[in-house]
This record gives sequence, structure tokens and C-alpha cells, in this order.
Amino acid sequence: MSLIEVKNLAVEIGHKKILDNISFNIEKGTVTAFVGPSGSGKTTLLRTLNLLQFPTNGSVKIGDTIANSENISKKIVKQLRKNSAMVFQQFNLFKNLTTLENVANPLIYNNLATKKEAAKEALNVLKKVGLEKVADQYPVTLSGGQQQRVSIARAVAMKPKVILLDEPTSALDPELVESVLQTIAELAKKHITMVLVTHEMEFARQIADEAVFVEEGQILAKGPAKKLLSGKTSSPRIDSFINSLKRSAIL
Ligand SMILES: Nc1ncnc2c1ncn2[C@@H]1O[C@H](COP(=O)(O)OP(=O)(O)O)[C@@H](O)[C@H]1O
Ligand SMILES: [Mg+2]
Repeated sequence: MSLIEVKNLAVEIGHKKILDNISFNIEKGTVTAFVGPSGSGKTTLLRTLNLLQFPTNGSVKIGDTIANSENISKKIVKQLRKNSAMVFQQFNLFKNLTTLENVANPLIYNNLATKKEAAKEALNVLKKVGLEKVADQYPVTLSGGQQQRVSIARAVAMKPKVILLDEPTSALDPELVESVLQTIAELAKKHITMVLVTHEMEFARQIADEAVFVEEGQILAKGPAKKLLSGKTSSPRIDSFINSLKRSAIL
């Protein structure tokens, strides 16, 4: 049984179909990269996996929790959100909390740890991303790359079944991208299950097991990342998209 099973998922906002007929499975311990043009529905898909957006059709299953569009209770929302943690493009750290508090507080709010345990665990995870030295600093004093690594640490500390990362490096200055990619690569090595939306094609090709190409709210293709993101598939549409990003990475 797969860790994540998405079946016939559709999302309509207003009368606009944003996602349609989306189905895929994700195995525990793997990294799956979602790629595709801007506006194709990647963010909406991640938000739906976390039930920040409700599906209008189909179902999302993570672990033992199934959210079916016909019947989503508060209990299901809570359980499913516990199974997944989001890392956003804009980090979304609390400005009035220190680095340590940003990582520790969700553990306390979710009754996963006492204040003391949470602080200990937060420091532990911050060490893993090389940020224990800034534990007492506020986000405003950190670089964008450091802030994003705090946000990743916050997700890791929750010990979710999957971490969902939405273009985690696209808001960063180019020189800060590397450190965040490094952090993500280390999590992949530890077989932490991740779903990654990214335009960093070379990185995705290297660390992802599976890749999914999304266009106009639908899955155009899916398969092993090494092949799908090689720029040499049998689909001219996919290859031209992948190759255009490779070129812009060089320039
Ligand atoms: N809350 C919303 N209300 C209306 N349209 C939305 C909303 N969220 C996303 N969309 C539309 O859905 C489409 C997919 O958006 P998004 O999921 O952000 O794509 P991507 O992340 O691939 O760029 C876009 O056309 C966008 O304008
Ligand atoms: Mg997006």
C-alpha cells in the first residue's frame, strides 16, 4: 500500500476548474517532484494534499487518513494536516518568535511535546540544518536561505509522514539557493518522504525518485525523474519545457 494515494482529484474555485482528474501514488521514503508551467495548478495541488484547499471531487489519502470530497469532517482535516507539513515559497515564519520558538511552538500547540521537550527537539533539528547558532535570533536577522531552512526544520520537527515543499528556493537570491537545496538533499538521503514543486530541474533530476508533469490542471506525464526530467523523453512538449529551464539556469 502506498503512503499517499490521490484518486480522481478535482478542484474548482468559483466556476473555474483548477485541477482535474489527478491520480497518483507516492511510496514511503521517496521524493516526488512536480514540475510544469506557472499557473498549471502545482500550488493548488500541494494545498489540497494539506486540505488548505478542499477537493471538489475525488480523494486524498495520506497514511491511514482518507479525505473524500463528499465528506470531509474537522477530524479528518486535523488528522490529514498532522500527516503532512508544508514548506512555503515565502517561508511564513512568525516574525515575533525566535528561530527556536518558530520550530518548537507548533509541537506545543499540537500537543506533541511539553515546552521543555519541544525546545530540546527544536534545537536538535536546528543542529541538523546547521542553524543552532541562530536559535535565539529573530527571522528578520536571518538571510532568506536561513529562514527557509528554519521553515524546513519546523516541518521536520513535526515528524509528519510527508513534507510538502512549494518552490522552496524561488524567493531566494541566487547565492542562497544552494544551502537550501543542500538541506533538502540531506533529508532525501535520510529517506524522508517529500513532495517537491520546483523549477530547479537539475536538482530535481538528481534527488527525486519520481516526477510528475502538470499542465493546465492535469497530469500530462509521470515516471522516473531521471527519465522524465532528462529533456529527452518522447514528448516534445515536456522536453521543450525542461530544456528551457536548463537554459535559463545556465544564463
Ligand atoms: N484562490 C484562487 N482563486 C481563483 N483562482 C485561483 C486561486 N488559486 C489559484 N487559482 C488559479 O488556479 C490556477 C493554478 O494556480 P496555481 O495552483 O497557483 O499554479 P502554479 O502553482 O502551478 O503556478 C491559476 O490559473 C490560478 O490563477
Ligand atoms: Mg505555485
